[in-house]
Amino acid sequence: MVDKADNKVLIREFSADTDIEVVGKLERNCELGSKRGFSIFTSMMCDPLCRIRFYPIHIMLVAQLLDNGELVGVIRGCIKHVGTGFGGTHVMGCILGLRVSPTHRRMGIGFQLMNSVEEWLLRKGAQYTFLAAEKNNTASTNLFTSKCNYMNISSLIIFVQPVCSTAKDPVPQVIKIEKLHVDQAIFLYKNRLRDKDMYPTDMDVILKEKFSLGTWVCYFEEQGWINLDSEENNKGTITKTQSSWVIFSIWNTCEAYKLHIRKSHPLSYFRATLSHAREKIFSWLKMPRSNVSVQSSFGFLFLYGLHGEGEQLGELMKSVWKFALGLGQNVKDSKLILTELGMCDPLIKHVPDDPSISRIHDLWYAKSLSSHPDDKDDLLMKGPLGNVFVDPREF
Ligand SMILES: CC(C)(COP(=O)(O)OP(=O)(O)OC[C@H]1O[C@@H](n2cnc3c(N)ncnc32)[C@H](O)[C@@H]1OP(=O)(O)O)[C@@H](O)C(=O)NCCC(=O)NCCS
Repeated sequence: MVDKADNKVLIREFSADTDIEVVGKLERNCELGSKRGFSIFTSMMCDPLCRIRFYPIHIMLVAQLLDNGELVGVIRGCIKHVGTGFGGTHVMGCILGLRVSPTHRRMGIGFQLMNSVEEWLLRKGAQYTFLAAEKNNTASTNLFTSKCNYMNISSLIIFVQPVCSTAKDPVPQVIKIEKLHVDQAIFLYKNRLRDKDMYPTDMDVILKEKFSLGTWVCYFEEQGWINLDSEENNKGTITKTQSSWVIFSIWNTCEAYKLHIRKSHPLSYFRATLSHAREKIFSWLKMPRSNVSVQSSFGFLFLYGLHGEGEQLGELMKSVWKFALGLGQNVKDSKLILTELGMCDPLIKHVPDDPSISRIHDLWYAKSLSSHPDDKDDLLMKGPLGNVFVDPREF
């Protein structure tokens, strides 16, 4: 409990039975303060737990005023197991969805929610905690760095493009885009992700999940790429190649939303929330309102697992983007293509320079929860992690 100013607040676990509507309203009142005024990763989710639903160990806490029972804050936490390029597996606590009602800010409630979720993560074995915020969000940057001692570990750009904003543009004939069998994709990612600073250790689960539409490689036909069936590859090491190639996977959020609507909550609540989110996102993207009114649902395709090798990544990346847009135009309810790339990722400079692609600058923060001084010799000290593999289940 906190007792700061005249605010007595109880931090307790979220109850789906009693809190869902109020938390929905709280989220809508707290749409993030970027100049576009909207975060697609929060309100449009509608389901207060959906970004962490895939993780078996998760929690959602609310801050409740003791005098009148009003809910004035919310936060979520989950446990992830991630591999790192430095070797080994780490138990990571991930914090997301921190919101404090605009009428109750600067009273210590955000700080109290952070402390409570960190205590829970520590009890569940987390060695580190992670969170992300938009770069221009001063309140959360100050809270995380000055009050909660987080350090900025990496910087990512989220790229978003409406699928209807472009005419169908074919991939040039000299470039091949080939779908991999899921076992080939798992093999290739496991082999290549060793170089990434952080990646989910259950990559195979992600790739086999029904929301994952598949994994493809993109390369110049005349160059070819890796022969996955070669004897050397069967032993687990991939033959080196001079070719340029890009691997990517695509996650379909559209079906996930429908699933949440059907299974978890009263339809009416979700209709209202979806409609609200839809209007916001379409105005954020400056799309015609006619597109909003006729469409009853929306989602997006998330391009994840992007990894490129070789000298000629520019043409390949353009083709990957065209391919994803084309797929988006054929997937029902898919209105956007979205991807997230670390600032140090060589592919970032090859994302097409198209005025209809919006860019959101996110910062990732982390801290070690260990009190043991030796444990500070950890991945946080090994330099900025600019190459984070973004887990599609968070979208
Ligand atoms: C960020 C947010 C959760 C902070 O909640 P809060 O309850 O007001 O935070 P606290 O009162 O605990 O403030 C703790 C510290 O954060 C920093 N801080 C909070 N609001 C700030 C602001 N508007 N400007 C600058 N620093 C701020 C200060 O360092 C503050 O300590 P101080 O009051 O001793 O100076 C709240 O502003 C919010 O819900 N914003 C919208 C949603 C959001 O941005 N969430 C984070 C996304 S990851």
